[in-house]
Amino acid sequence: MASGLSWAKGSPLRAIVHLSDLHFGRLDRATLPALIAAVDVAKPDVVVVSGDLTQRARRKEFEDARKFLDDLPSPQIVVPGNHDVPLYNIVARTLRPLARYQRYISDDLEPFYADDEIAVLGINTARSLTFKNGRINRQQVVRSCARLAKCRAGVTRIIVTHHPFDVPDASDTRGLLGRAQMAMAAFAHHGVDLILSGHLHVSRTSESTARYKVSGHSLLVIQAGTATSTRHRGEVNSCNIVRIDRPRVSVECLTWNSERGSFAVSAIDGFMHTPDGWIRITSKSLVGGS
Ligand SMILES: [Fe+2]
Ligand SMILES: [Fe+2]
Repeated sequence: MASGLSWAKGSPLRAIVHLSDLHFGRLDRATLPALIAAVDVAKPDVVVVSGDLTQRARRKEFEDARKFLDDLPSPQIVVPGNHDVPLYNIVARTLRPLARYQRYISDDLEPFYADDEIAVLGINTARSLTFKNGRINRQQVVRSCARLAKCRAGVTRIIVTHHPFDVPDASDTRGLLGRAQMAMAAFAHHGVDLILSGHLHVSRTSESTARYKVSGHSLLVIQAGTATSTRHRGEVNSCNIVRIDRPRVSVECLTWNSERGSFAVSAIDGFMHTPDGWIRITSKSLVGGS
C-alpha cells in the first residue's frame, strides 16, 4: 500500500486509522471484510471511530457495530454521533440518550490514549436536544485542555469529535459544531495539532486558519467520509490513515472500489509543522493509478 511517509523500525512514526459514520442499519455489507483487511495492513497504533456507528441507535445495530469493532485492532478511540442517540423514543432520547451506546460501545465518553509521540482524546458532541447538529461545552473544553497539558512538549495532540469544525462551504456556519469558535480558540492556545471528525460523509483536510481567526496557531481539521454506509454525499465509501512523524503529518484517503472489492489509497496530503502551526506542503491524487 502506498504511504506518504517511510516507515523505519524504531521510528517515532505513528499511524492512526480514522473511520467514521459506519451507520450499521444502512450498511453496504461488502465493505466490511475489505475494511477490516485494510486496517490490518495499516498496522495502526490507534483506531479512531468518529461517531454515527448506527443508523437509528437500535439494539441490533449496536450489537453489529460492537462485533465489527471487536474485529479491529486496539487501542480504539470511539465517540458517539447524532445517529447513536434514539430519534423516535422520546423518553430514551431525553433521559438516557447514550445508554445503548454506553452499554454496547463504551462507557467512557472521553476516551484517551497517549504514548511518547501522540495523545488522542475523544469528546462527545451528540446531544439529545438537537436532532442533527452537535455541540461542545466549556467544561468539556477545559477538561480536554487540562488533560492534554500533562503531555510532554512535542507530543502530537489530537482531538476526536463527531461533529465538524469545518465544512466545505466557507460561508456556511450552520453545519459547524456548536460553540466551535470557543473550542477552537482554546485548542489553538493549548497546542492541539489535529482534530479528527466525521458527520459530513465527506473526506477533506483543511487548515483551521481558513475559517478561524486564531492568531499564532494553525491546526489541521481532518474529516473522514462514511466508511461503510450507503448514505453517500456524492463520494464513495472511504477512510483515512493519518501518519505522524513530527514535524510531518500525512493524510491518506483510502476509497472503496466495489469492482475490486477493496479499499485503496486514492489521495495523499502532506503537512509540515511550522512556528505558526501546520501548513499543507503536498497534495497528490492517485485516482486513475494502479
Ligand atoms: Fe453520519
Ligand atoms: Fe452525524
